[in-house]
Amino acid sequence: METTATKRRDNKKSLRVKVISLGNAEVGKSCIIKRYCEKRFVPKYLATIGIDYGVTKVQVRDREIKVNIFDMAGHPFFYEVRNEFYKDSQGVLLVYDVGLRESFDALDSWLGEMKQEMGSQANMDSIVFIVCANKVDLTKRRVVDEGEGRLWAESRGFHYFETSAQSGEGINEMFQAFFSSITDMCENGGKRPVSEVSVGFTKEQADTIRRIRNSKDSWDMLGVKPGATREEVNKAYRKLAVLLHPDKCVAPGSEDAFKAVVEQEEHQEEHLEEHQEEHLE
Ligand code: GTP
Ligand code: MG
Repeated sequence: METTATKRRDNKKSLRVKVISLGNAEVGKSCIIKRYCEKRFVPKYLATIGIDYGVTKVQVRDREIKVNIFDMAGHPFFYEVRNEFYKDSQGVLLVYDVGLRESFDALDSWLGEMKQEMGSQANMDSIVFIVCANKVDLTKRRVVDEGEGRLWAESRGFHYFETSAQSGEGINEMFQAFFSSITDMCENGGKRPVSEVSVGFTKEQADTIRRIRNSKDSWDMLGVKPGATREEVNKAYRKLAVLLHPDKCVAPGSEDAFKAVVEQEEHQEEHLEEHQEEHLE
């Protein structure tokens, strides 16, 4: 006869989870999954029509995990089909192509679509997110570097992996981390373990570094209006210096951003002095 204890042990051992893949069309979502499940790569592009579904079994520590994979089509045309499948996911693979900036910039809108479809009960803390910077084999056409991708991911408490479905680089490591995190989360009562979320820097710090990297001019870098007064410039500068000082900020890229701000401030000082001299004359 089966005892309650054996039942409980069996329950602990097997686990069923649902994961989905998200990202623009043609970034390589299906190829990443195929590389992992079938150990092969198909160079010809076969767009996913709506959804592809597959099941795989993986072993994490002493547990067998049955993973239901819903591989979504990235094309906007399939929005109506996709929106049925967001609910009840424990894991999300967010994929972009390192050679296409718009696929990286689109990650925010993918999260937006997901939140919208999951409705008000959406609890993003009960989902493990993995960001795949894919097609790293095509080094010559790369436009989004590792620092930028990692910052976007880690500032949100998401994992970051560099992958190539073509060469297989990073694929097994990424899936292992993904499934082991999902298992940890399930064992933690459905909450993403806190240690993974706290990465030692805030979203404000990460967003500021991103703004500085992408700033068009010195006003933009300091986050002030063109022609701002010395007082406004000083205030903005002090705020950034506190936010990004390397002793206080461990976010990747903070040192470069801090240096850029300091250099900019020195430049602004000269500029403002010239301006004042002109006025005095
Ligand atoms: P949709 O289903 O339309 O959303 O696209 P997808 O994201 O599933 O893209 P898919 O996996 O079908 O790959 C798109 C194209 O990129 C195909 O031609 C693949 O061969 C190619 N590709 C995918 N991953 C890689 C990679 O890591 N390196 C290189 N060089 N090509 C890749
Ligand atoms: Mg696909």
